[in-house]
Amino acid sequence: MDSKVTLSVIKADVGGLVGHSSIHQDLLEEAGNRLDGAKHQEKIIDYHVTACGDDLALIMTHRKGADNKEIHQFAWEVFEACAETAKNLGLYGAGQDLLSDAFSGTIRGMGPGLAEMEFEERESEPVLVFLADKTSAGAWNLPLYKAFADPFNTAGLIISPSLHDGFKFEVHDVKGHKKIVFDSPEEIYDLLVFIGAPSQYMVKAIYTKKDEIAAATSTERLSLTAGKYVGKDDPVYISRSQGAFPAVGELLEPFTRAQLVEGWMRGSHTGPLMPVAVREANPSRFDGPPRVICLGFQLTGGHLIGPRDMFDDPSFDLARQECNKLADHMRRHGPFEPHRLPMEEMEYTTMPQVMKRLEQRWKPL
Ligand code: F6R
Ligand code: MG
Ligand code: MG
Repeated sequence: MDSKVTLSVIKADVGGLVGHSSIHQDLLEEAGNRLDGAKHQEKIIDYHVTACGDDLALIMTHRKGADNKEIHQFAWEVFEACAETAKNLGLYGAGQDLLSDAFSGTIRGMGPGLAEMEFEERESEPVLVFLADKTSAGAWNLPLYKAFADPFNTAGLIISPSLHDGFKFEVHDVKGHKKIVFDSPEEIYDLLVFIGAPSQYMVKAIYTKKDEIAAATSTERLSLTAGKYVGKDDPVYISRSQGAFPAVGELLEPFTRAQLVEGWMRGSHTGPLMPVAVREANPSRFDGPPRVICLGFQLTGGHLIGPRDMFDDPSFDLARQECNKLADHMRRHGPFEPHRLPMEEMEYTTMPQVMKRLEQRWKPL
């Protein structure tokens, strides 16, 4: 058996309570029962089920590696069962993110988002799982840059010999379907040329200079997969912590300053990403503002010891307050940019259908 452990976080919106604001307890229970069964059958080592807003997240450990067909198929079946529960309860958007009728070997490109990493477990292995709602997959670019490349955020980049060499950033161009790897700090200006445009370029993974996996994100863009607007990506990011990686507090620090992201109402607005405790991840004001939660675990022999609800801490109160102030300020713009997304991004919403009606009425200047 492979001595390495795999952490797989796979998430999908399979129905909301009420509207798109939160999740029904029965979905968490349905998923929990199925993951518990898989644990007893030794298909997985351990699991934790949670939700951020209307997105159900399956956090699983196993020894089968990333992109494992059996694990992906199992997750797909769990989502299908939960979608059925959601349908029976008449929940909103039941089965929304399950874009295909049948499983085809990988859950990639079928609607759900996923972040996976396989590694040799250290003597003590702290990991953080970040989950967001009402935003898109590029939302992690800024916090990842700050945590892994910015010495004003991460003291270890200066102070710790194990971080001083920096990291490698694997960046995906999700529209051009290509990838590139940048060395940090050597190439941070080149890196920022691209990741500063998070709707197209996304940090997919981060490695140490010795090629150890540090972090992985979901880069699935629902609209690009479905070819139309079906909801926002609501992405996930997982990171190892301490030792050769940023400390827990260095990974959390980027979320102390309100970051403007795309998403919010109808996936069409710019708004602040608010770090909250799990119990507060129920976006309701103008279907938002966008949320991020973070669960911390100690991974021990593949078992998930925890979780700790990392943003359940008064030291994030000011960040939340700043987000509320920014939310008010952005809302004042109503249907005007920069609150509403630029036209290029609106292509992936339902607005083009409205514009189509007026096509004939436009006359040449
Ligand atoms: C954003 C989101 C919601 C919906 C909105 C309209 O990611 O999910 O803001 O876009 O509530 O939903 P529908 O079109 O389902 O009525
Ligand atoms: Mg939804
Ligand atoms: Mg959602």
